[in-house]
Amino acid sequence: MASIIGLATLIAFSSSSCAKTRTDEYTFKNAGFEKGTLSGWQTSGDAFTEDGVVFDTKDSNGNLYNYVGEFFFSGSRSAEGYETGYMLSESFKLEGNGKIGFLIGAGANTAKCYVALVDEKNTTEYATRSNDEFEEGVVTNGLHRVVLDGSKYVGKTVKIKVVDKDSGSGYYNYINVDDFIVNYQGEEDEVGKLADANRYIQENKGRVNDRYRLSYHLMPEIGWCNDPNGFVYYNGKIHQFYQHNPYSTAWGPMHWGHATSTDFVKWEYLPVALAPDSEYDDGSGCFSGSAIEKDGKLYLMYTGVSKNGYQQQCLAESNDGVKFSKLNRNPVINSTMVGPGLSTIDFRDPYVFKEGDTYYCIIGAKEGSYGQMVLYKSKTLTSWDYVGKVMNNSDPSAPNYYTLSPGIYECPTYAVIDGQPILICSPQFLPQQGNQFENVHSVVYMAGSFNYQTGRFTYDKMRDVDGGFDFYAAQLMNMPDGRVIMTAWMQMWDRVFPTQADGWCGAMILPRELSYKNGKLYQAPVREIENYRVNKIQADNIQLNSQSQRIDGISGDALELEVKLEVGSAQKTGVKVFKGTSHETLIYYDAQKQAVVLDRSNSGKNCKGAEVNYFTRTVNATPIDGVITLRIFLDNTSCEVFINGGEATLTANVYANEDEEGIEFYSIGGNSTLLSVTKYDIIVK
Ligand code: FRU
Repeated sequence: MASIIGLATLIAFSSSSCAKTRTDEYTFKNAGFEKGTLSGWQTSGDAFTEDGVVFDTKDSNGNLYNYVGEFFFSGSRSAEGYETGYMLSESFKLEGNGKIGFLIGAGANTAKCYVALVDEKNTTEYATRSNDEFEEGVVTNGLHRVVLDGSKYVGKTVKIKVVDKDSGSGYYNYINVDDFIVNYQGEEDEVGKLADANRYIQENKGRVNDRYRLSYHLMPEIGWCNDPNGFVYYNGKIHQFYQHNPYSTAWGPMHWGHATSTDFVKWEYLPVALAPDSEYDDGSGCFSGSAIEKDGKLYLMYTGVSKNGYQQQCLAESNDGVKFSKLNRNPVINSTMVGPGLSTIDFRDPYVFKEGDTYYCIIGAKEGSYGQMVLYKSKTLTSWDYVGKVMNNSDPSAPNYYTLSPGIYECPTYAVIDGQPILICSPQFLPQQGNQFENVHSVVYMAGSFNYQTGRFTYDKMRDVDGGFDFYAAQLMNMPDGRVIMTAWMQMWDRVFPTQADGWCGAMILPRELSYKNGKLYQAPVREIENYRVNKIQADNIQLNSQSQRIDGISGDALELEVKLEVGSAQKTGVKVFKGTSHETLIYYDAQKQAVVLDRSNSGKNCKGAEVNYFTRTVNATPIDGVITLRIFLDNTSCEVFINGGEATLTANVYANEDEEGIEFYSIGGNSTLLSVTKYDIIVK
């Protein structure tokens, strides 16, 4: 994982604006503390004071309180914690089903901190309810709904008593409460990190600023996302999971976000699938991994990162592809199984696939100061054997030795494409070679073959999958129709991320169909995108010179553009996109370099990264019969370029001003001909 990972910047949202106030519905006075005071409550002792009626959104650890309305009662604000006492509501007749729903938080000592239903004179506690779900490390101050069952006492005149007898100095030795509802008809809240994450997303996703959001790419509903995970076809749907920190626009404890699609273009969000709630993943969380179907169930294989930093491989299973349970026998590949000379701290991102009747799993690893990958095998998915090291890190005479990664080969993925086994991975810190590996972290492919006895993958050379700025952690999947589809994180570590100001960060590429011919990997956007083409405009045979030209009807920022350029005598010829009065992004063929260049030096908001060159990215390409073909997809803040039928690609994020949607064609140092240009708007509703 890259160095960007630091302190999570929490999204500062005030919860008061969206929460509902139930003042009118309450059976007894000030049952939701909406008066902003303790009026209506009679107190005894010193644990319950007016100072406790507060409207903070988060505790000092950044955990959300999740209260209802404007105010709730916070025991820690009321007193230091060692004070004791109780508060008593006014009396009321218990009617309806006799159930009282309320929100509770803290109260670690459940025998001493609780809520009781008492008789009018406060002599008998009829029924009690405490924070039984209290679990330190989970959101301990946060409120969740519980139900106090007083059904046996319907018809009696009663009071609610909130009790704190905990005079100790331990953590959470006070009680938080809110929103007492008599005759409560609902359920108790699910508790735990998964339920918290899903609740948080539902309650806060409406607050994301959509100015930079994409219209036909997958993004998190709110918060941060990085790598695609578990990209798989299961039960008639495409599933895509992703590394996700819903609470922050920065990387933080990893959850697995989840979405499905039937066409790779329109996505439906599902509940978060995995949260860091087990002892083997309660450190940095549930890191990257993959998915596979077995006997009708969907399995997620991921890296659990525990508090002590160990990275171990774990499984979660599901019968419906929506709700996942982690296996009791996790981790299924633990730290004692890393293989000779390998790190237990850098051992992650399992990619699982089946060959014959055997499951294999490739895992990113570290051997001394170099990256490595290792292969495991299994007949069952749950019990694994080490096979061996995938990379040759020890023979300097081997042709591939120079590409040793001093970081880790993150996120391996594998498929057989047009009969050719292809291994793709994301090496950190791969030394730049000409215009290959220009980013701090790369995504490379190797055409070769596995030796399933030794684990070694033999290949000729490593090549960039995409030559642009923002492309990482690619993952492959097989469609039932035989296509191999690739997705990737359309971003890069160590960059400035302009959307962080808007409550979200990170998106996936438009998935690509892969093919292999003439010893090369070819990429094309999934054909399903063509179903969303509207407003076709075409123009032919336009002479280009240094005066940039616009063409009637060709502009916009959610579109597909196919450009055929006869290079002629031009030194540079190409297209300007996201063109406005202050900014432009250039995509051009450079005859001297025999390459296509994407230049975002004047694109808009700063996206500076750790690289020295953060202005341009270049890929080799030569005109075919004098013609360079560029197929370009723009989506508000993204730009994906497929060159000469997909023999090379360039992907980048671009943050121009909102009205900068111009498209212009030009030629420098000679004339070129725009043989044809076709534009389609891409509209996804
Ligand atoms: C790659 C990566 C993976 C890791 C994940 C953590 O971007 O560093 O190696 O599993 O991100 O979020």
